[in-house]
Amino acid sequence: MILAEEKYELDGKEILLRSANENIDDANMLINYLQTVTGETRFLMCEPDEVKYTTEEELSFIKKHNESANGLLILAFVDGEYAGNCSFEGKTSSRRAKHRAGIGIALFQKYMGFGLGRLLLEVLLRKIKEQGYEQVELNVVSGNDRAYHLYESLGFKECGRIPKANKYDDGTYSDNIIMVHVF
Ligand SMILES: CC(C)(COP(=O)(O)OP(=O)(O)OC[C@H]1O[C@@H](n2cnc3c(N)ncnc32)[C@H](O)[C@@H]1OP(=O)(O)O)[C@@H](O)C(=O)NCCC(=O)NCCS
Repeated sequence: MILAEEKYELDGKEILLRSANENIDDANMLINYLQTVTGETRFLMCEPDEVKYTTEEELSFIKKHNESANGLLILAFVDGEYAGNCSFEGKTSSRRAKHRAGIGIALFQKYMGFGLGRLLLEVLLRKIKEQGYEQVELNVVSGNDRAYHLYESLGFKECGRIPKANKYDDGTYSDNIIMVHVF
C-alpha cells in the first residue's frame, strides 16, 4: 500500500508522513537509519553490525510494501529531516491468520519523546483497520517502558512473555513481551 503524503504539526514542528520511494536515495537512507537506530537502543531486534541489507534488498523491501495490499511502510520527516518509520505486515501465510497484522516502529533518538511515535501509530492503526484486519500484534522488549506505555495507551494488552528472548553481547538478557490490540 502507498500512503499519500500527510502533513501534521507537532510541538511547533512540521511533520510529513509518506511511503518510501522506490529509489536508491530512499533505500540507502533506510539502511543507514537501521544501522544507526539499532546502535542507539537495546530495544530493537539486532545489533548494528548485523544490519547487512544491500541497496537491492532494500529496494525490494520498499517495493513489496508499496505494491502489497498486506503491508505499509510509513516514513516520518520532521522539518524536512528523516526521523524514522513504522510499518505493518499482514500474517497471510494461511487463511486462518489473515485477520492478523504485525507492526514495528523505530525513531532516531533525536526525534523520540515529543509525540511522533503516537502520531505514527495512530495513522498506522487507522490504515490497518481500514484494510479489515481484526487484530494487531507486536513484541516489545522488557524495560522499554516508553514503548510499553505508548502501546498500552493505544489499546494494546500484554498477553504473553518469552523470558530471556534476547541475549546481549555483555551477557545480560531481556524478555520479549507480546502485546495484542483487538479492534
Ligand atoms: C518507542 C518509540 C517509537 C515511541 O515513540 P516516541 O515518539 O518516543 O513516543 P511518544 O512521545 O509519542 O510517546 C511516549 C509516551 O511514553 C511516555 N513515556 C516516556 N518515557 C517513559 C517511561 N520511561 N516510562 C513510561 N512512559 C514513558 C510519554 O509520557 C508518552 O506518553 P503520553 O503520550 O501518555 O504522555 C520511540 O521512542 C522509539 O523509536 N524508540 C526506540 C526504538 C523502539 O523502542 N521501538 C519500539 C520497539 S517495540
